[in-house]
Amino acid sequence: MIARLRIWVPVAFLALLVACAYAAKEEIPNSDCNSDSQCRSWSNAKCNDRGRCECLEEYTLFNDTGCGKGVRDRCYEGHCDANNTVCYTDICVCKPTYTANYNNTFCYKQPQEYGDLCNTTSECPDFGDGRECNRGRCGCQDAFAFNHTQKLCKYKIDEVGKACNENQICYLERDGDNQHVRCVDDVCKCIGKLSKDKQSCSGAATLLASTSALLIAFLARSLT
Ligand SMILES: *[C@@H]1O[C@H](CO)[C@@H](O)[C@H](O)[C@H]1NC(C)=O
Ligand SMILES: *[C@@H]1O[C@H](CO)[C@@H](O)[C@H](O)[C@H]1NC(C)=O
Ligand SMILES: *[C@@H]1O[C@H](CO)[C@@H](O)[C@H](O)[C@H]1NC(C)=O
Ligand SMILES: *[C@@H]1O[C@H](CO)[C@@H](O)[C@H](O)[C@H]1NC(C)=O
Ligand SMILES: *[C@@H]1O[C@H](CO)[C@@H](O)[C@H](O)[C@H]1NC(C)=O
Repeated sequence: MIARLRIWVPVAFLALLVACAYAAKEEIPNSDCNSDSQCRSWSNAKCNDRGRCECLEEYTLFNDTGCGKGVRDRCYEGHCDANNTVCYTDICVCKPTYTANYNNTFCYKQPQEYGDLCNTTSECPDFGDGRECNRGRCGCQDAFAFNHTQKLCKYKIDEVGKACNENQICYLERDGDNQHVRCVDDVCKCIGKLSKDKQSCSGAATLLASTSALLIAFLARSLT
C-alpha cells in the first residue's frame, strides 16, 4: 500500500503541474484587467481571478489577437477557427491526412517534402540517416547537408578521417558536387586524390592516374 502511494503521489503531483502549465498557457500575456470589458481588445477572452485576460472555456490562445476555436475545442455553431479543421461530432478536428501542431492552433498536411512543417521526425520522409524534424521543418540534423536531387541527408565533414557509421554518407564540404569519400570501416575515407591538408579529395587526378596506369599496363602487355 505504502509502495503504491510512493508511486502515485508523485504522479498526481506531476499531473497537477502539467494541468497548471496548461491552464497558464491560455492566459493572454501582458493583459492586466479588473473586468471582462477590459479584455475586449482580444477576441473570446474574459478577466480571470488573477487579474489577467484569459481565453473563454473551450477556446485556445491563438496569437496576439486572442483566442479562437482550436483543435479539440467544442465547435461554436458548427464553426472552428483553426486552419484545416472541421467540426465533427461537435468537436473541432483536423481534416483527414492533416495533423495538429503542438499548441492546437492549426492543422497541417502531413509532410511530403524537404522543408514541410512537422512535429516529430518519424512523420518526415525518409531522407536517410541524419534526417530530423529540425526547428519544426523536415530536413537534416545540423551536422548534415541535404542533397535535393537525391533527397538524402549527408554527413558533413571538413576533412577526411572523421568517424562515421555505415549508414552515413560522408560529404566533404570543400569538394561540393565533386565527392570522392566513402564511409569504410567507420571512417570517412578518400577514394580519390587526397590533398595535403586532407580537406579535399577530388577524384579526377586519381582517375587520370589510374587511366594512365591502365594504359601503361596495356602497352607493356602488348609489347611483350
Ligand atoms: C502556436 O504554435 C505556432 C507554431 O506551431 C506558433 O507560431 C504560435 O505562436 C503558437 N501560439 C501560441 C499562442 O503559443
Ligand atoms: C491570429 O489568429 C487568427 C485566427 O486564426 C487569425 O485570423 C489571425 O490572422 C491571426 N493573427 C496573426 C497576427 O497571426
Ligand atoms: C492559415 O491559412 C492561411 C491560408 O493558407 C495562411 O495564410 C495562414 O498563415 C494560416 N495560418 C496559420 C496560423 O497557419
Ligand atoms: C507535437 O509535439 C509536441 C511536443 O513534442 C507534443 O506535445 C504534441 O502532442 C505533438 N502533437 C501531435 C499532434 O503529434
Ligand atoms: C547530389 O546528387 C546528385 C545526383 O546524384 C549529384 O550529381 C550531386 O553531385 C550531389 N551533390 C552533392 C553535393 O552531393
